[in-house]
Amino acid sequence: MCGIIAAITQRNIIDILTKGLKKLEYRGYDSSGLAIINNEKNIVRIRCVGKVNKLINKVNKKKIFGTIGVAHTRWATHGIVSKENTHPHISSNIIVVHNGILENDALLRDFLKTQGYIFRSNTDTEVIAHLLHWEQNKTKHSIKNVIQDSVNKLHGNYSMVVIDKNNPLELIAVCSKSPLIIGLGIGENFIASDQIALLNITKRFMYLEDGDIAVIKKKDINIFNKNDFIIHRKEIFSNIKYKTVKKGKYRHYMEKEIYEQPVSIKNTLENRLNKNNTINFLELGKQEDVLFCKIEHIHIVACGTSYNAAMVSKYWFESLTNTPCDVEIASEFSSRTLAARKNSFLITISQSGETADTLSALRQSKKLKYLGNLTICNMEGSTLVKESDYYLSTNAGIEIGVASTKSFTTQLTVLLMLVAKIANLKKINNIEKKIVKNLNMLPNRITEILENKQLIKNIATQLFNKKHMLFIGRGEYYPIAMEGALKLKEISYIHAEAYAAGELKHGPLALIDKDIPVIVIAPKNTLLEKIKKNIKEISSRSGLIYVFSDQTFNYEENVNFITLPYVETFIAPIFYTIPLQLLAYYIALNKNKNIDKPRHLAKSVTVE
Ligand code: AGP
Repeated sequence: MCGIIAAITQRNIIDILTKGLKKLEYRGYDSSGLAIINNEKNIVRIRCVGKVNKLINKVNKKKIFGTIGVAHTRWATHGIVSKENTHPHISSNIIVVHNGILENDALLRDFLKTQGYIFRSNTDTEVIAHLLHWEQNKTKHSIKNVIQDSVNKLHGNYSMVVIDKNNPLELIAVCSKSPLIIGLGIGENFIASDQIALLNITKRFMYLEDGDIAVIKKKDINIFNKNDFIIHRKEIFSNIKYKTVKKGKYRHYMEKEIYEQPVSIKNTLENRLNKNNTINFLELGKQEDVLFCKIEHIHIVACGTSYNAAMVSKYWFESLTNTPCDVEIASEFSSRTLAARKNSFLITISQSGETADTLSALRQSKKLKYLGNLTICNMEGSTLVKESDYYLSTNAGIEIGVASTKSFTTQLTVLLMLVAKIANLKKINNIEKKIVKNLNMLPNRITEILENKQLIKNIATQLFNKKHMLFIGRGEYYPIAMEGALKLKEISYIHAEAYAAGELKHGPLALIDKDIPVIVIAPKNTLLEKIKKNIKEISSRSGLIYVFSDQTFNYEENVNFITLPYVETFIAPIFYTIPLQLLAYYIALNKNKNIDKPRHLAKSVTVE
C-alpha cells in the first residue's frame, strides 16, 4: 500500500504534492512526508506521524519552494509508525519514496552495514536508498543506470520514485508489479500511485508496466527496460471528473458512496441490458459464448468485501446455472498446493485491482489448467485488469471510503448478470429474463430504502455502545451477514461476527445473553421457517434480537423488527445489504469514529 506522488514543474510543487497526498490518503495514513530540492539546491524534508493534514500544517509554516520533489503517505509494514520510519528516506544525495515490500531487505541491510551505512529507520526503503548510494559511489554512473544495475538485487513487488540531488532535473520512477502512473503536463510532469492524485492538474496519463524504469523531466519522458531499451507506453485520456471525488454535501465519503448506489448500479447496468430482457457483455468479445459454454466449474478468488460478494454468487451460480462454484480467500489460494478441476474457470473480484493477495492468486492460477480467467473490477487500467484474460467493469465510480459499499453492490450486480448470461447459454429457461426484470428495478428499490434511513438511525442509537454483535443469515443471506459484520467492525471497532444461522447451535449460542445483539437477516423465502426457529432459540435464551425482514412474526419482547418492503428474490440480497451499511455507518457516527479512515486500515492492500 502507501501512496506516492512526485513532480517536476515550472511552478512551486508544494501545493501539487500536498493536494495529491490528500487524495492518496486512502492508501495509508499512518504518517506522511515530502522532500524537495529547494532553490539553493538543498534537500528539504518534512515528515510527521498522523494524517496528511498534520503534514500540510507543518509544510505551510515553513514556506518552502521547489520545482522537483517527492511525497509519500505510509501504511506501516516494515517498522512501527514513527517519524524515523516515515518516507522519504535519504542516503546522502539519494531520496527515495517507495510502495510495496522488499523481501530481501534483511540481507541487503546486513551487507550495507558492513559497508559503513548507518540505518536510522527499520524500513526496507532506507535499504534501497543506501543501496543506490553505495552502487553510485562504486560505479559513478548516472542514477538511472545505477537503478538499472540495482533492480536485480531488489526482490519483491514494489514501485518507487528516486531523486538524485546532484541531478535535480529528473525524477526516476521504477515499477515492479506495483502501480505507478505518469501524469503529463505542459512543460511539467508528474507521477503517482493513482491518477486520482493528479486529476486536478492533468487528464493525460501513461501507465507504467512491470519492469519499466521512467526518466521524467520537465519536457520529456523516456521509459526504459532494465536492458536499457526504450519502451513506448500508450497515452490515455481520463474521463474521471475531479468533482466526483469530492464529498459534496455528505459528512463522509462512505455516506456519499452509500447514497450513490442507485446511480452506480444504473451505470453498472448501462448498455448491458437489452430491450428483450437479455444480457450482453460486449467488452468480452466474440469468444464469450463459446468459452462460457465449456465451463463446468467456477473458482472465485477475492479478499474482504469482494470475497463476500463472491460468496453470495456461489449460491447464485449453483442454484441458477447448475454450475459448481468454489470461493476462496485469495491469500489462502496462494498458500496451498492447488489442484484445478476439469474445465474450471477462474474469476477474481476486486474493487482496486491492486490487492496483492488477489494478484498473487491470479498469477499462481496461470500455472494450472484453468479454461481462462476473468476479473470483476472497478479500476480500469489496474494491474489485475491488465493481467486478466477478460474484464468486466463494475463501473461504480471512484470509491474513497476505506469501507467498501458501492463496490460491493455493483460487484453483486455484475455477478448476477454473469449468472443470467451463463444460465441462458446453458439453456436454463427463463432465468435470464427474470434476472433482467429484477435488475431493472434495483436502483429504485435501493432509493426507497435509502429514503427510510431514520429507521436505521434509531437502531444505531440503541446499539452503538455494545461491545459485541452477531449477524446471522441463511443461504445467500449468510454472506450478506458476513458483509454486515465486516462493515461494522471496520468502522466502529465493535467486535462483530457472522454465522450461518443454522450453525449457531453448534457453539456460538453459548455467547448469547442480553448484551450481545443478534442481527438476523430474514426475508420471506423458502428458508424463512428455518430461520424463525433460530430466532426462537436465541430469544428463549434472552438474546437481544433485531430482525431485518419483510415479515413480522409474533415473538417475545426481546425481538425487534426492522420491517423492510418486499423485494424481488434475485435482487433481495443486494437490497438487504443497504440497511446493514447504514447501520454500521450510523453506529460509527454515534461513536464519533474516523469513518473514512479507520485505524490500521488502508483502502488498497498492495502487500501480501
Ligand atoms: C472492505 O470494506 C475492505 N476495506 C476490504 O475488505 C477490501 O474489500 C479488501 O481489501 C479487498 O479489496 P479489493 O476489492 O480492492 O481487492
